[in-house]
Amino acid sequence: MPRLQNKVAIITGAASGIGLGSAKLFAEEGANVVAVDVQDELLREEVAKMNENGDDVIAIHLDVTSEEEWKTAVQKTVDAYGRVDILVNNAGIHVPNKLLETSLEDWRHMLDTNTTSVFLGMREVIPEMKKAGGGSIINIASLAALTGSGAASGNGTAYSASKGAVRSLTNHAANHFAGDNIRVNAIFPGPIKTPIMGERQATIAERNKDVVPLPPYYGEAIDIAYGALYLASEESRFVTGEELIIDGGSVL
Ligand SMILES: NC(=O)c1ccc[n+]([C@@H]2O[C@H](COP(=O)([O-])OP(=O)(O)OC[C@H]3O[C@@H](n4cnc5c(N)ncnc54)[C@H](O)[C@@H]3O)[C@@H](O)[C@H]2O)c1
Repeated sequence: MPRLQNKVAIITGAASGIGLGSAKLFAEEGANVVAVDVQDELLREEVAKMNENGDDVIAIHLDVTSEEEWKTAVQKTVDAYGRVDILVNNAGIHVPNKLLETSLEDWRHMLDTNTTSVFLGMREVIPEMKKAGGGSIINIASLAALTGSGAASGNGTAYSASKGAVRSLTNHAANHFAGDNIRVNAIFPGPIKTPIMGERQATIAERNKDVVPLPPYYGEAIDIAYGALYLASEESRFVTGEELIIDGGSVL
């Protein structure tokens, strides 16, 4: 039997990279997937391809920083499928600014997109999960949450802070909603070859050879999607507040 049969999953940032890989995998495993993103055209194209393959996926515009758009997206999900069982808070941005070069505006934009989004998503979805008798939330953090990324280079000040907050939000919600049978876990990816890296994708293996022991010295979206699939499925029914590091054994 497919691992997510009869489950309804909202996945943010689903037009690209890890979100897209997760949307495809979840749909192949039987989930009704609600794929949300701000890249509307790309999202529509990707969702159309999935539906052509026989999967059941709908595309909804959602800027994860918008309270109103979260409410609308959750309502549309319930209208379409009657419930929400799984939320993957994946949408995110990366700006490699050093502390002394980070404007307040950049700082706020990063925290809104990477952290406030996770708070809003959980706040809007958890009441629906309670009605459904439980659920699974997967927050995509980053190795940067654990290492304070770029400690040597000084890059990524706001990024690592934004992901560190996702880590503590995850543990907080895991404790608070365990009694409602709602599990909340986080994944901490190491370097994953996706568009978030821009031109740095081309040199990802060379750049990471010294810090990622496992060839090819970087991961792909599907490597994170498989972790998310485990946490979304009933196979992890006794797992909450967990921190799943998927990083090729990184020694950062
Ligand atoms: N690629 C890596 O090496 C890596 C490592 C650690 C953590 N992560 C995290 O994984 C997540 C996914 O990143 P990715 O690597 O797939 O990058 P990506 O750029 O391919 O995908 C991110 C998606 O998020 C969407 N997005 C951005 N802002 C949004 C907003 N306000 N509302 C809705 N959608 C928005 C983008 O449109 C894009 O489709 C991010 O949270 C990122 O921080 C990535």
